[in-house]
Amino acid sequence: MTSSVLEPAAVSSAGKLGPTRRHYLMCRPSHFAVTYAINPWMDPDAGASAETAVAQWEALRAAYLSLGHEVSLIDPEPGLPDMVFAANGATVVRGRVYGASFAFAERQAEGPAYEAWFRANGFGDVMTPTFTNEGEGDFLTLDRMILAGTGFRTSIDAHKEAQEFLGLPVVTLQLVDPRFYHLDTALFDLGHGNVCYFPGAFSEGSLRVLRTLFPDAVLATEEDATVLGLNAVCDGANVVINAEATGLIAELRTRGYTVHPVDLTELRKAGGGPKCCTLEIRAQTH
Ligand code: ARG
Repeated sequence: MTSSVLEPAAVSSAGKLGPTRRHYLMCRPSHFAVTYAINPWMDPDAGASAETAVAQWEALRAAYLSLGHEVSLIDPEPGLPDMVFAANGATVVRGRVYGASFAFAERQAEGPAYEAWFRANGFGDVMTPTFTNEGEGDFLTLDRMILAGTGFRTSIDAHKEAQEFLGLPVVTLQLVDPRFYHLDTALFDLGHGNVCYFPGAFSEGSLRVLRTLFPDAVLATEEDATVLGLNAVCDGANVVINAEATGLIAELRTRGYTVHPVDLTELRKAGGGPKCCTLEIRAQTH
């Protein structure tokens, strides 16, 4: 495989990748169910259990806590079975909160619910968006730019609005495969200026952009993508990832990451994985 792209500053003297402490917002899936189908993963007849979802979600939360991260919780609301997918609730950069406006009626009430949480928790700069966007589902904040998906949910107008409000350049990426309807189902941040993605999810033009920006990216196979292996969370050293993404897990280990496999099979019935359950709260300083 290709050589490591880690910048020297990101690597400790022992040659180890350095993590940074994160603050996450999560929502316990007490009301989880699959009652409608707004992506190809969802089948209301398949049977989804809130009890199993809660148990799997608790293990994900425990994994973050054991890694030293802070986890805040938003109260789940009855009638919003997808509210567990906190990543969709907003995009937070340097303490500024760009709210979500959901593409489908079934989830629209989640936008105001997440905005209310931020307002109640001391965030002064909360913007109600004009345009359709599903938060970190489609906005991935890196150090110097935001990568933004479009094609299924978030509109390009929202990409422009996010750039104006959040103050980072937004790079539009075109998603082309309905199984990977959000950017965070097809690409995740590895820290140190690198990312991991599944090429089949992107248009030819967007692939050229990705190759230009991330010449040493980790490329995932379709096999790993279809177990939502790209819906992973990395703190710069540790990767929390669906356990079934075995090829990708092996490759990440080769690259020096410490992998923490989790079982979120119940939540995958709604088309979600670890990252979907996790909204990163980026505070004033970063
Ligand atoms: N059922 C949800 C939907 O289709 C899943 C959202 C998953 N979240 C994510 N960040 N990809 O909207």
